[in-house]
Amino acid sequence: MVVARKLETPLEKNRKRFVRLAVLVSGGGTNLQALIDAIARGELNAQIVLVMSNKPGVLALSRAEKAGIPCEVLLPKKSSGREAYDEALAEKVSAYKVDLVVLAGFMRILSGAFLKHFPQRVINIHPALLPEDPEKDQVILPDGTASPAFRGLHVVEQALKAGVKWTGCTVHLATTDLDRGPVLKREVVPVLPGDTVETLHARIQEKEHKILPLAIARWAGRFAAKPC
Ligand code: GRF
Repeated sequence: MVVARKLETPLEKNRKRFVRLAVLVSGGGTNLQALIDAIARGELNAQIVLVMSNKPGVLALSRAEKAGIPCEVLLPKKSSGREAYDEALAEKVSAYKVDLVVLAGFMRILSGAFLKHFPQRVINIHPALLPEDPEKDQVILPDGTASPAFRGLHVVEQALKAGVKWTGCTVHLATTDLDRGPVLKREVVPVLPGDTVETLHARIQEKEHKILPLAIARWAGRFAAKPC
């Protein structure tokens, strides 16, 4: 017997893929702004329901306030450890019933104490190319040569010091293995003669602003319909 399956209408599909976002920030918030703008232009089927910072008074918070997005600041306490902070952060974020947590320049490494609350629901934007295979420590560049994978902090500086011809940016799922989660989207950026950390980072950020909304849409297509 053939059982007819009811086909989803595009509207139903779209509704399913609507994403409630929490964006975690620590600084300028240009990626946050790119998301606010992409949503306003109707290019991303999402709503930012929370902007959370570990630092008060940062520009990212002003951007959120201007856009009418609820903001919270959770300061790390010197007396308590990383896990206590991460648990408290998870509790705050969970209260907003988010589908996806976006680390957009959040300058803290999140431990399993946070990540366990949002399995496959935390993504990070990283200002360098990361390999598709998280086990690898090299990335293949457009001319077929290999570059080291720059992980951790100060990766724009690492790329400049290594003298590579190309670097880029990557959006990936965050896991307890730092900068080794599955890749959602990448973009290559050439390193130009005379580049400084500032000029190169500015060009990388231009690409970040393009790929972050695309990566969220890709994430929604793959994971959002699955129950939490
Ligand atoms: C971005 O370059 C991102 O890759 C890195 O931190 C920077 C944040 O920039 N993780 P902004 O706060 O979004 O302007």
